[in-house]
Amino acid sequence: MYLPQLLQRVQQRERLVALTCYDAGFARLLVDNDVDILLVGDSLGMVIQGHDTTLPVRMAHMRYHTEAVARGAAGRAFILTDLPFGSYQASPRKAFASAARLLAAGANMVKLEGGAIMVESVAYLTARGVPVCAHLGLLPQSVNQTGYRSQGRDPAVAARLVRDAAALQAAGASLLVLESIPAILAKEITDGLDIPTIGIGAGPHCAGQVLVLQDLLGMTAKPPRFARDFMAGAGGIGEALRRYVQAVRQGQFPGPEHSF
Ligand code: KIV
Repeated sequence: MYLPQLLQRVQQRERLVALTCYDAGFARLLVDNDVDILLVGDSLGMVIQGHDTTLPVRMAHMRYHTEAVARGAAGRAFILTDLPFGSYQASPRKAFASAARLLAAGANMVKLEGGAIMVESVAYLTARGVPVCAHLGLLPQSVNQTGYRSQGRDPAVAARLVRDAAALQAAGASLLVLESIPAILAKEITDGLDIPTIGIGAGPHCAGQVLVLQDLLGMTAKPPRFARDFMAGAGGIGEALRRYVQAVRQGQFPGPEHSF
């Protein structure tokens, strides 16, 4: 699926539903259960590879998992793949070389983390045929600077995030992930943009929601506060996925207990 079809869905549907996905079997299941965006997230470093952070994830890993997801989705899904740490920060040219490898592996869009510092790269990529999703708020690739702490409670930081979001949109980003920020700030950012925002720990006002698949399936020992175990009481994985999709579309997830 290509970007115009995804954007058409934004017009037709109440909310976009995204989930991380790392293999062909789950790609098939997610598509069959109407998930709009399969995110081949570098969270695979933690949930698949067992690391404490996303930092050890390499291009080869992202390509391998993107290829598997693309085979499973068989053209029926929009595949968004993370540029891993170190594959894009150095320069726009480096970002393009890495993005090109992920598109060749089957991604329809790449995601990169960061605000004003990424504007030049977003413009460079989008001018050269690479759709880009930006990512603001808690940036897991910057864990050594910030830890895993929610962002944007401080008014100066909140104001910077609002400015960064506008700058990334102006540079050509087509989607924006907002991670672990106050719901009221996510609403302000969402209302101020034309492009859809996808929230994770960012409250109910984003245009869509994303979760890490393993959190949804109740497999995480210490799940983040913003996640919900959709397997609890479900008859199987398919039912858990349907519950998640329905809860997001109907605005029942995330609730106040999942928001900051
Ligand atoms: O890698 C990932 O799972 C992500 C989500 C946290 C949005 O980027």
